[in-house]
Amino acid sequence: MPAQLPRKEVRFDPRLPWLPGVRNMLSPMAGVTDRPFREICRGLGADMGFCEFASASGLTYGGEATWKLVDTEGEEGLVGIQIFGSDPEHMASAARLLSGRRMDVLDINFGCPAKKVVKKCGGSALLADLPLLEKITRSVIAESLVPVTAKIRTGWDEESVNYQEVGLLLQELGVPWVTMHGRTRSQKFSGEADWDRIARLVETLDIPVIGNGDVVDGASYRRMVEHTRCHAVMIGRGAIGNPWIFSRMKAVDEGRDEPVVEFTEMCRVTIDHIRGEVAMRGEDQGCLVVRKHIAKCFKGYPGAAMLRRKLYATQQIDEMINILEDAARRGDPRVVQP
Ligand SMILES: Cc1cc2nc3c(=O)[nH]c(=O)nc-3n(C[C@H](O)[C@H](O)[C@H](O)COP(=O)(O)O)c2cc1C
Repeated sequence: MPAQLPRKEVRFDPRLPWLPGVRNMLSPMAGVTDRPFREICRGLGADMGFCEFASASGLTYGGEATWKLVDTEGEEGLVGIQIFGSDPEHMASAARLLSGRRMDVLDINFGCPAKKVVKKCGGSALLADLPLLEKITRSVIAESLVPVTAKIRTGWDEESVNYQEVGLLLQELGVPWVTMHGRTRSQKFSGEADWDRIARLVETLDIPVIGNGDVVDGASYRRMVEHTRCHAVMIGRGAIGNPWIFSRMKAVDEGRDEPVVEFTEMCRVTIDHIRGEVAMRGEDQGCLVVRKHIAKCFKGYPGAAMLRRKLYATQQIDEMINILEDAARRGDPRVVQP
């Protein structure tokens, strides 16, 4: 048996019998974690995937684009839907409207730093208004058919760091876990995620804490768990163009060496991803949307920049697949001439 990473013993919610076995999750990421990408990540070892966040008001008013974000019909494996908003009634009605959806948890976003979200007092702005945060959490829990989880940051800014208070409040309200990105709202994505604070939250709460921030490979996954003793780790940017991060984390959990990802495998997975996006969005949009993954993929291979340029030059699925198949056949991006 490989040595287990050190985790704090926690109280699991009996409604989530699968939670003890969940060690990693794909973060909700707007514009990134759509269904094809969630499926790719799951296929490579992600224990659970989250949809991009959806506006509670958008869901309440029946916005077609918003509803598409939470399309999980028939999706296999563990999946969470995340909502954001500042109006407890809209949050409650979103939870009610979502109640027929295929999902394992409904997550509330208390961490988004984006101006357009916080200016309406949603996302991380709620960390600075705990009475409203409490009201929202209560109203979503009251309407949701599935357990309600929460994702927070460490506080609004360095002067108002309050994650322990927020965590205890959420635990008291009955959430089965809290995910924390180890930055304040004012940090946005700058500096480093504060893993000491994640460790403190783990110590403070009896329920599982999901650590989040700056895990990019198996080694940093191991370091985060060793440092914080968190129950599981949520991966955001580290999965873009690199869904293999999930197989790396699995290898760490199972005491194996991190797998080497061959160039041909990168091509194969990228082809699957393009096919999935095109099936969901049509050719133009589908080919466009994979670009942000391609931009981060094939790193370290000489000739990767040229391969990317070739792929960016077309919005035709057949052409993209030909380029990738050709490169994969030869096993080297350098042979792809512009
Ligand atoms: C493009 C992008 C979109 C994001 N969208 C969401 C979102 O919809 N909901 C959310 O809770 N966090 C969102 N986040 C934050 C991530 O889920 C995660 O908390 C953050 O990136 C830190 O983790 P990382 O260092 O693993 O990326 C987003 C981050 C990025 C980069």
